Amino acid sequence: MEEQDRLGYVCGLYRKYSSDLVAVVEQQRTFRIAARGRMTPQLDDLEAEITYLLLRDRRPATVMELGTFHGWSTTWLLSALRDNGTGRLHSFDKIDNVVRQVPADLAADRWTFVQGDMKANLAAVPADVDYLFVDADHGQRFGDWYLEHLFPLMPAGIPVSVHDVFRGRRARIWSEGAVVVSWLQERGVRVFSASRKNSPAVFAEINRVRAELGIEGARGTTRNPMIFFNLP
Ligand SMILES: C[S@@+](CC[C@H](N)C(=O)[O-])C[C@H]1O[C@@H](n2cnc3c(N)ncnc32)[C@H](O)[C@@H]1O
Repeated sequence: MEEQDRLGYVCGLYRKYSSDLVAVVEQQRTFRIAARGRMTPQLDDLEAEITYLLLRDRRPATVMELGTFHGWSTTWLLSALRDNGTGRLHSFDKIDNVVRQVPADLAADRWTFVQGDMKANLAAVPADVDYLFVDADHGQRFGDWYLEHLFPLMPAGIPVSVHDVFRGRRARIWSEGAVVVSWLQERGVRVFSASRKNSPAVFAEINRVRAELGIEGARGTTRNPMIFFNLP
């Protein structure tokens, strides 16, 4: 899909799921304010919303999240599964702070958390992952590691998102993002991004649609360095 088509697809999802999205943004804003001091959110507004919308549209049975920190992305992912009425999230992190942050009614029976270094937990990766979300160690070495060891466990073609890639116009040298972007380029895979710096036209158009729909962010942050792509 060309960038214009992918932008049209994402804007279409904003329109299709706008009332549910407005409710989740409000839920997440309330959660963030209530958890101030014990929960530091990481995902910015557009990338969190796009993640929610992709999960709504794909209706994945199995989602894997690598890197929960305090649970901001976890609660976005779980909200999409709750609103779908189906699907299970398997989250991985070295630290277990997230288990004290995720509301019990959101975790319900749809969440599994695995604590420990991902490198030691490959055996806990679920079979048949339908969506992979990565926001963990942003160093080059970790990127090299998961391209070699984690990606081969994933089915080809699934949607993947990787955070912290386009903080600026390009991925930082010696970063996880640089490694992943060049790996994708070698395979002819195009990425989608709503990064303010890397993809300003996409950023502007999505914001235009959001304004039209009355969608205000749960945080008010605008960097959106995440990349979205389908696994080759
Ligand atoms: C940027 S934070 C995640 C933020 C979260 N996704 C959010 O939206 O708030 C990165 C997380 O990755 C975890 N992490 C880093 N390296 C890891 C590894 N090798 N295995 C498991 N977790 C790791 C860290 O403990 C940290 O909680």
